[in-house]
Amino acid sequence: MANNSKGTIGILTGGGDCPGLNAVIRAVVRRGEQLGYKVLGIKDGWRGMLKADAEPLTLDSISGILPRGGTILGTSRTNPLKKEEDKKTLLANLKAMGIDYLIAVGGEDTLGVARQLVNENVKVVGVPKTIDNDVEGTDQTFGLDTAVSIATEAIDRLHTTAESHHRVMVVEVMGRHAGWIAMFSGLAGGADCILIPEESKTLEEICQVIQRRHARGKKFSIIAASEGFQLKGQDTLVTKDKPLDQFGHVLLGGIGERLAKLIEKQTGFETRSVVLGHLQRGGSPTAFDRVLGMRYGVKAVDLIEEGKLGHMVCLKGNKITSMPLLEAMTKLKLVDQEWIRMAEVFSG
Ligand code: F6P
Repeated sequence: MANNSKGTIGILTGGGDCPGLNAVIRAVVRRGEQLGYKVLGIKDGWRGMLKADAEPLTLDSISGILPRGGTILGTSRTNPLKKEEDKKTLLANLKAMGIDYLIAVGGEDTLGVARQLVNENVKVVGVPKTIDNDVEGTDQTFGLDTAVSIATEAIDRLHTTAESHHRVMVVEVMGRHAGWIAMFSGLAGGADCILIPEESKTLEEICQVIQRRHARGKKFSIIAASEGFQLKGQDTLVTKDKPLDQFGHVLLGGIGERLAKLIEKQTGFETRSVVLGHLQRGGSPTAFDRVLGMRYGVKAVDLIEEGKLGHMVCLKGNKITSMPLLEAMTKLKLVDQEWIRMAEVFSG
């Protein structure tokens, strides 16, 4: 334990970056300082733990970061538990770096590692983040709100060009296993058809929605599709030609273009596709994501102070609370039937 302090908190951000990460880092440093902890910023997620790459975080280093997107610590998709020797390095580095407590900010993969470290007696606290919003145990992850705002604005913009050209536009948004971004931006932007990984559909079903709409006089349509959507009967994910990442994930992308070609062929309506991609993760977080990130950061340090280790902070209703990582990370939080039925009201 470091001298003249209650101990050192290491913080890392892992997985895909996400607007609001800097709000968490800032909150951890401020709350840590208030309660008498030192904070060490670990670089590039779990990769920094393997390389013992870190720097002290002070009030100076976090000044001005609240509105900034990305993460000042950097991130990676490194899996430190893939090899036994890496696990040993990680545990040894925690000691060598003088880290008494670890705050891991991440999604399914980063928190999955944190969960396993609980069994290694590491004093770890998890903070859920991902624009995909698929972490079970919390009502919302920060980053989702910003991504949905960006996707909604894109859908709004696409309406005018689709209408002018009498086209069908397919907007591909992120969402590997969970369609929250497509669902919320599709609803908010008034998309005519929302396609998500949780509910596959046939090409005929999709085309019928568009044809019904055109039959009642509409000359354009907007489709919001998650990158992880699969056509029924052709259940293969559309992927980029890239190797798997260290957690075994394929890189998705291309369903929008594939759908656009098939829809044009089937309906005869001119169709275009737009991929929003990393635009959804870049730039300044919304006020909601900043405040949620700040609340999560403060709570993470409070959990350490209370000795509630091995927990993940979470949002339940409007309250910030926590739950054991071992209970939180058992499955993904997917879009449920209630949302799917709700979206049907606005289909076509
Ligand atoms: O972090 C989640 C996510 O944004 C997914 O929605 C998407 O499939 C993936 O990351 C993209 O990964 P990368 O940033 O490595 O291209």
